Amino acid sequence: MSATPSDGDFAGRKITTRSLLEMKEQGERISALTAYDQTMAYLLDQAGVDVLLVGDSVAMVVQGLATTVSVTMEHMVYHASLVRRGVKRALVVGDLPFMSYQVNSDDALRNAGRMVQDALVEAVKLEGGLSVCPTVRRIVDAGIPVMGHLGLTPQSIHKFGTYQVRATEEREADELRRDALALQDAGAFAVVVEKVPAELAKEVSESLEIPVIGIGAGPYCDGQILVSHDMLGLYTRFKPRFVRRYAELGKDMQAAFEHYHRDVKSGEFPTDAESY
Ligand code: KIV
Repeated sequence: MSATPSDGDFAGRKITTRSLLEMKEQGERISALTAYDQTMAYLLDQAGVDVLLVGDSVAMVVQGLATTVSVTMEHMVYHASLVRRGVKRALVVGDLPFMSYQVNSDDALRNAGRMVQDALVEAVKLEGGLSVCPTVRRIVDAGIPVMGHLGLTPQSIHKFGTYQVRATEEREADELRRDALALQDAGAFAVVVEKVPAELAKEVSESLEIPVIGIGAGPYCDGQILVSHDMLGLYTRFKPRFVRRYAELGKDMQAAFEHYHRDVKSGEFPTDAESY
């Protein structure tokens, strides 16, 4: 078990990139969700979720932006450091934001290093296939585990022009198969595959030794990830069909805020028992 700055009295097994590989080998599915702050990270960790991704989806579900492309390294380091404080067991992965790794591999390595040194995450994630593999190799060689991300890669939304399902045509499916293998060869410890046909994700999961974590990629992947705000019903601007809502926290919070507002207006809050 590796020591982490926040592991304190934690007696259980710390999840590492190696644990994920073992889970795949033993046929144990990997659970992953996104987190952006300490409170949520603590709850996710206590629930036993294996991997917490500090996703650049923070742009859409926290910052109120339309896409992920405006997120900066400063934002990501800030959110990742909050998340890290809440976690004892889960593996914490920090997303590298748009333009933090595409320009050159020096920048990429420096920014991956910032995520590990300043935010204390244990791995980074970046989007893309063959073209990012030299960068992946360089970061891995420096001792930082890298998770890949293929299929619908939201940082390329302006290139795609749509959030529709990817790799439905053979040419793109072939590219995805090739990219997944290339990421594995470059040293990636896992690959997220987003919004692609279930049969393709199955084939890729079976062909790789490293775990494939699906989002909108069907039931046959080695693990699953969702954006926490989607599955909690907190982000309701749109709901892709792959999102299962496990709660309606948005509605519950709205009702609580309205209740409080009414109580303040009517003088119902606070009572004598709530006063000094
Ligand atoms: O940023 C994010 O939340 C992600 C997940 C959708 C995998 O990349």
